[in-house]
Amino acid sequence: MGKHRSRRPFEGLGLNSSGFYGRRKGYKLSARKETLLREVFPKIRIDLDSTNIPLDPQLLFNFRPKEVWLEIGFGGGEHIAYQSQANPDIGIIGVEPFLNGLVSLVDEIENKNLKNIRVFDKEISILLERLKPNSLSKVFLLFPDPWPKKKHLKRRILNPNFLNILNHLMLEGGEFRFSSDDASYTRLVVELASLREDFSWCPKSCRDWQFRPERSIETRYERKAIQQGRKNTYISLRKTSTL
Ligand SMILES: C[S@@+](CC[C@H](N)C(=O)[O-])C[C@H]1O[C@@H](n2cnc3c(N)ncnc32)[C@H](O)[C@@H]1O
Repeated sequence: MGKHRSRRPFEGLGLNSSGFYGRRKGYKLSARKETLLREVFPKIRIDLDSTNIPLDPQLLFNFRPKEVWLEIGFGGGEHIAYQSQANPDIGIIGVEPFLNGLVSLVDEIENKNLKNIRVFDKEISILLERLKPNSLSKVFLLFPDPWPKKKHLKRRILNPNFLNILNHLMLEGGEFRFSSDDASYTRLVVELASLREDFSWCPKSCRDWQFRPERSIETRYERKAIQQGRKNTYISLRKTSTL
């Protein structure tokens, strides 16, 4: 693939890089994980320096995926690995800058021989501003860092511009799934969505937001929140029109 200089397709949409405020590395990696990182990770890594801009995510895979999905901040990778196994005809992009989480997923990909995952190991906004418009069918943002303090609110991945960006990148009818154990974060998502005509929140019952959607699994942070007695909420928005 040819190399092109990046244009900024989000000019005017107000993408502001959220930056990355988490840890990039935790405990020391075992020799096996170091090897996985050196030998397996480069085969599934999205390297923006050697891809066309805008990047057509369909072309990242060794097959023509029926759809492309994106999981932002996959943590230990249990949800993306589950979706990969359950949906082998879908191409799934996972984004995670935290090395220890990323290598856990690489381990799973190797053990289960998963063929439909590609991984971006930097901050999400870098990838979002390079993706081809109307190319994603599902986007997952599961238990993002909540940054509840007022002075940290701007660190949240989901800010008022985020739904503009999703509108730009998602296909009509596509689904955005958000979950959190922080009520103020969920309130923000519902408030932002309620102001828009291009996304709809259609719970089948008024209790829907209390339950994890079907065809999904518990993530590590979700379990931790339950163990610590917090309430989790689940919001699923559908893109209904293109801006
Ligand atoms: C609270 S953890 C949740 C992990 C996982 N989704 C789960 O439910 O277990 C948030 C994750 O988002 C990642 N993250 C934070 N900021 C990010 C950013 N700007 N771009 C991509 N990932 C990010 C962190 O490294 C962390 O793994």
